[in-house]
Amino acid sequence: MNIIKLKSIFTPSSLVTSYSRCGDKSLFVRYFSSKASNTDKKDLVTFNYINKDGSKSTVSAPVGENVLEVAHDNDIDLEGACECSVACSTCHVYVEPKYYNMLPEPTDEENDMLDLAFDLKENSRLGCQIVLTKELEGMTVTLPSASRNMFVDGYKPPKH
Ligand code: FES
Repeated sequence: MNIIKLKSIFTPSSLVTSYSRCGDKSLFVRYFSSKASNTDKKDLVTFNYINKDGSKSTVSAPVGENVLEVAHDNDIDLEGACECSVACSTCHVYVEPKYYNMLPEPTDEENDMLDLAFDLKENSRLGCQIVLTKELEGMTVTLPSASRNMFVDGYKPPKH
């Protein structure tokens, strides 16, 4: 189990158990949030992607999903070559500043991968490390115009 990954999604408001579809399929991630673990409407987070062509996609996804998983579920072109192992920068996104400041600090591992990202900015984060909470309702994440795939060039993991 990747302790670093668990630390990066820890949020202190309440307890939820969520199944991570990235990486190790047997990994159950426990983290804290103020809502129950079911996925009825009150546990959905609606947020936006600005795609590479400038178009906007508005999606709703359960609390506990990450921005990369949700992108794959909605056919949004966010790569995620290492499948959330924090070993690439292909899930790089720009987070609207208001929401960027609500996110837990990036881990050293995330920062190391961000240093490899194409067109790094102050509000850059790895999409697979942004776990949805109700506080992120209304957030907009913008896909960079390109990504740097140093894992397996051009590889895109299949939809889970
Ligand atoms: Fe590789 Fe997010 S998918 S770091």
